[in-house]
Amino acid sequence: MVERAEAVATATDPAVIVLELGLIALTLAVAVSIAWGTFRTGISPMPSSRRARKAMLLRLPRDLRGRVYDLGSGWGGLAIAIARAHPRSEVIGYEISTVPVLCARVFARLLRVDNVRFERRDFFASDYRDAAAIVTYLFPDGMAKLCMKLEEELPVGTPVISNTFRVPGWEPERTTTMRDFHRTRIYAYRAPGPPQI
Ligand SMILES: C[S@@+](CC[C@H](N)C(=O)[O-])C[C@H]1O[C@@H](n2cnc3c(N)ncnc32)[C@H](O)[C@@H]1O
Repeated sequence: MVERAEAVATATDPAVIVLELGLIALTLAVAVSIAWGTFRTGISPMPSSRRARKAMLLRLPRDLRGRVYDLGSGWGGLAIAIARAHPRSEVIGYEISTVPVLCARVFARLLRVDNVRFERRDFFASDYRDAAAIVTYLFPDGMAKLCMKLEEELPVGTPVISNTFRVPGWEPERTTTMRDFHRTRIYAYRAPGPPQI
């Protein structure tokens, strides 16, 4: 009886109620932040699957050095995997949505991967002339917009690896089809440079 009374008292303790409300508010804020990011960009922070990540890693040059950009890095899984596989590279993940960027930084720190960094920014606002490689997993309109920028800025021959979506107008050097439910494709390109007029 005494135990039951103690349990009831704990459940109605103002500190417990404040904590519960705080957790609910935090969960809502995270959900709204992710939904807002998805609404703004047209794509959710859904990560590349493990298989897709593996296939993308295989399509990158073995002796990768220099800067590798993950355009729309989400929760950071792909960028961290590349950084671990290529310790001489510097992997930079640009992500517009706040919560995934913060989580990606925490994951990198916990895994002690120090050649990766995550910045909260619109990747269209950056320049990629110094890129050693680009990886991305976006959506068709995003790829169309990105295509012109990459043609203008990337040195000819720079590897560009895209999960699922083609770079419109570019001929892939290699296409890998996953044995998954969606038959996901990984497209490996070399930047062609600006279009010749
Ligand atoms: C499908 S997720 C891919 C995550 C990660 N690259 C991977 O493959 O695991 C795409 C991410 O791109 C981000 N994104 C879309 N447009 C963006 C932009 N213009 N600037 C920065 N991030 C963007 C979205 O917020 C989303 O988190």
